[in-house]
Amino acid sequence: MPNQTSRKIAVIPGDGIGPEVIDAGLDVLNRVNDARKLGLAFVHFGWNADEYLRTGISIPPGGMDDIRNNYAAVYLGAFGDPRIPDMKHAADILLGMRFQLDLYVNYRPVKLLNERLCPLKDKGRKDIDFVIFRENTEGAYVGMGGNFKKGTSEEIAIQEDVSTRKGVERIIRYAFEFAKATGRKSVCMSDKNNVMRFGGDLWLRTFEEVAKEYPAIEHFHMFVDALTMQMVRAPEMFDVIVTNNMFGDIVTDLGAALQGGLGMAASGNIHPGRVSLFEPIHGSAPKYAGKDVANPIGAILTAAMMLEYLGHSAESAIIENAVIAAIDAGETTHDLGGNLGTRAAGAAVAGRLEL
Ligand code: IPM
Ligand code: MN
Repeated sequence: MPNQTSRKIAVIPGDGIGPEVIDAGLDVLNRVNDARKLGLAFVHFGWNADEYLRTGISIPPGGMDDIRNNYAAVYLGAFGDPRIPDMKHAADILLGMRFQLDLYVNYRPVKLLNERLCPLKDKGRKDIDFVIFRENTEGAYVGMGGNFKKGTSEEIAIQEDVSTRKGVERIIRYAFEFAKATGRKSVCMSDKNNVMRFGGDLWLRTFEEVAKEYPAIEHFHMFVDALTMQMVRAPEMFDVIVTNNMFGDIVTDLGAALQGGLGMAASGNIHPGRVSLFEPIHGSAPKYAGKDVANPIGAILTAAMMLEYLGHSAESAIIENAVIAAIDAGETTHDLGGNLGTRAAGAAVAGRLEL
């Protein structure tokens, strides 16, 4: 729980379907905030592709410091716009916040809420319930590298994958602390240290050392290629998975599919005790933008995760239960087999909040 006193939440709907799913999430948040007197104040930020194309600026001067100093959390939709093929504004804003606010934990739960949504044969709710911690401030995302002889037949491109002792240790420790606090049995560290010898060696040594401090929690290592196979073949073997930035990005899309698709998955970009950022895992899906078809559940579950981070666990559970009830009733968007639009699917959840 953040140790700051601010009750302000920065809301950044972003691009594409972002504004629609964030509207649905805000409707739920406002009802919970009012009924339970949480005292949260939502402040809208118009940082998005339109603004970037109009002004050439992705984050206005002082914007990042404002968020860092004056907000408890950020509630974000999605970034990405076909008019900005290099994703410059998305990188500035999303990766910018991850790095500059030092949000080193990317928390991505994988939890099946209804058997009907499970893509795996003979697996159910008890089998798909684990969390993935993705390192969020280093790895292949640091943007170190370059091109030599660019555009010639002799071109060389180098893209570095950076791991630091500090960065690796803090995410691994967070995974063990989470396992301990939530009664999870095991932590699996996944990488590719049979090929990535140097970074992998640092990850494995650190994992073994930190694990010694948590003798009650089982720990095991799995190569990331095997991890993808086991997540599909035997997802019940996992409780907590910890991995690097790039592998975490990849396996959490697979994790989303296990929950019923990208429209279902929530994530938190966290620095314990500081302003943290919450976003659905899905992207901006430009072709669905403005059509009232996007599934708002990922954004609504993200709102629940944010409330939990802010210390409102009871309210977070109320939201999750309302989501489960709406899915059970079949009142969902098409991707989940229902026939509702974004707004109606959001209202179906909002109407089931037991406040
Ligand atoms: C995610 C996304 C981002 C990432 C993109 C939009 C930069 O895929 O949050 O998973 O790669 O981290
Ligand atoms: Mn991703």
